[in-house]
Amino acid sequence: YTQANRTKSTPTFLLLGPSGAGKTSFVSLIQKQSSNPEEKESEPSPTRTSQVKTNVSLLLPGTIPLGSNKYRSQNDASLKDKHPTPYSIIDTPGHGKLRLEHALSQLNNPALRGVIFVVDSSVLDSSDSSASRDTAAYLHDTLLALQRRLSDKGSKKPKAALPVLIAANKQDLFTALPTGAVKDRLQSEIERVRVSRSKGLSAVGQDTDEDEGDDVLGGGGEDKFTFKLLEEEYDTKIDVIGGAVKGEEAGKGVQRWLEWIGGCL
Ligand code: GTP
Ligand code: MG
Repeated sequence: YTQANRTKSTPTFLLLGPSGAGKTSFVSLIQKQSSNPEEKESEPSPTRTSQVKTNVSLLLPGTIPLGSNKYRSQNDASLKDKHPTPYSIIDTPGHGKLRLEHALSQLNNPALRGVIFVVDSSVLDSSDSSASRDTAAYLHDTLLALQRRLSDKGSKKPKAALPVLIAANKQDLFTALPTGAVKDRLQSEIERVRVSRSKGLSAVGQDTDEDEGDDVLGGGGEDKFTFKLLEEEYDTKIDVIGGAVKGEEAGKGVQRWLEWIGGCL
């Protein structure tokens, strides 16, 4: 109860990722599950391209452990775990022209507990595809915005770093890269974005901020970009977890995404 009383607003997660990655499909699947927990196998409703952000109220099933219970005694934790926990997800449009205004702007939301970045694992099999480059550019911009958020001089108290879940979706498709390979591909593609941005030769997307671009993702050291670097330098923890919202393996991995959410509550 301490956690709930401390902030009046519902703990909120920001759902980001390129168009077509499966954000709205994911939210509608867990929305159905949270309104009817019995109906585990339900297919998400068909979606269309999102054009505005939507705040969706959800309940985390009581069976999923909460991070705030980690240090409680077994008895205490099992008592509390029987109740579902309210939280919200802000679904955002992934289209390149809507990202700044409708998605990344939400990083200032004080109720945020974490960021979920959904990728389509099947477009990452070739590093030259435009979908692959677009995914990396958007993830780069998101991580840079998170990095800048920490050094925001306008805010009164220092902000805590937000954890990031990269949901490697569409694992049901045979062209999908396996989760470990998704992680490697994203890291190397982000390194390419970082190099081209720092040379000022960038043609990919726009800068996320009015700040002059001298702050480089990961701090501008000599090392190649890795997610680990962001954890070491900026306390930003990044997990990559595979799954599928639709298709033959619909719902696979979704439990682990919910467990990640629970770990942030
Ligand atoms: P925007 O709203 O444009 O940003 O896209 P979005 O991320 O909300 O994608 P959306 O949920 O609308 O899904 C796009 C398409 O991918 C839809 O046709 C979904 O049916 C399909 N899709 C979503 N998840 C999966 C998955 O796990 N596997 C497969 N095979 N298809 C999926
Ligand atoms: Mg959508």
